[in-house]
Amino acid sequence: MDTRILGTTEADIKQAAEIIRNGGLVAFPTETVYGLGADALNAEAVGKVYAAKGRPSDNPMIVHISHKEDMKKLTNGITPDVETLMEAFWPGPLTMVVPAKEIIPKATTGGLATVGVRMPEDETARALITEAGVPIAAPSANLSGKPSPTRYNHVAEDLDGRIDAIIAGNDCKAGIESTVVDMTGEIPTILRPGVITQQMLAEALGKEVAVDPALLEKPDIFNNGGDGLLQTNSDFHPKAPGMKYKHYAPKAEMIIFSGEHEKVKMAMAEEKMKRAEQGQKVEIIVYNDADPETAAHDFFARLRACDKANVDVILAAALREDGIGFAVMNRMFKSAGYHIKEVL
Ligand code: TXA
Ligand code: MG
Repeated sequence: MDTRILGTTEADIKQAAEIIRNGGLVAFPTETVYGLGADALNAEAVGKVYAAKGRPSDNPMIVHISHKEDMKKLTNGITPDVETLMEAFWPGPLTMVVPAKEIIPKATTGGLATVGVRMPEDETARALITEAGVPIAAPSANLSGKPSPTRYNHVAEDLDGRIDAIIAGNDCKAGIESTVVDMTGEIPTILRPGVITQQMLAEALGKEVAVDPALLEKPDIFNNGGDGLLQTNSDFHPKAPGMKYKHYAPKAEMIIFSGEHEKVKMAMAEEKMKRAEQGQKVEIIVYNDADPETAAHDFFARLRACDKANVDVILAAALREDGIGFAVMNRMFKSAGYHIKEVL
């Protein structure tokens, strides 16, 4: 298949929208990561997304809308809390899991009775959804298992020849995927952390917001056996199906160094020297704890740059796990297959 590269003009958006309406696949920019879009109400179109990504079909997709009113078409579950968060954070990088209406095919929800919905902030994304006239199901536009794409060329690297078109838009502002919060229970629960933090949600709602306990676990064995599933000694049962799959992995071996900053820097320098002596190409990743936004914006792009440069081993310093740092570390731990060195 020839993948068309489109711009962001009105004419380009019209073409892209027509592809979506006809059951095709279009990758498009959002403020989090690039998405691979299909008509969310067309089971056959959604099926093509799983095939293009090589994605397990029990992993549900986020449905993207361009107007808050469109939420009513997808769910009967607009509680006062859901409404509060829609007002506070939409358009923006927040996905809410709510009960799904019948019109949403099982292919889109991965067979679940709930659906994740989000209204992106990116203008191009919303123009595309509006022009298509249907909600758009869109996982991140990467091959399954690879780092999420935050620049248009990342999408081309993974999906050229596998999808109908790519809208070449801006680099993604946030750089990590949306916060996913389950709104179906009494206490809203974060299933995937993002740049909208637990504290921001709790402040907007004026009540407690929980975090899926699976997010606090670090499975201690990583299975590279090829089935794409994390194998763990402990019970690791994340509620967002996507969180149990092997994810975001660079080609290089990756090790996270955790501990006091100066000691971590020394341990990394030592490891780097040892590896370099063995002839390995080493990359060091250190971010500033005080600026986790920059870390989020940069991280996936950095992993892809390492792949391109044929880096053998990536040594990364852990960030403090609070606020946006918690969301960045969620990705970093997975990228490294939970390979963590505690520096004492
Ligand atoms: O920022 C984002 O959310 C990006 C852009 C394109 O919008 N999309 C994205 O989609 O990250 P994806 O498919 O790569 O990740 C969706 C995550 C998965 O972990 C999935 O299991 C979870 O959201 N999810 C989706 N629907 C769910 C549901 N009904 N219940 C629980 N988890 C759900
Ligand atoms: Mg993804």
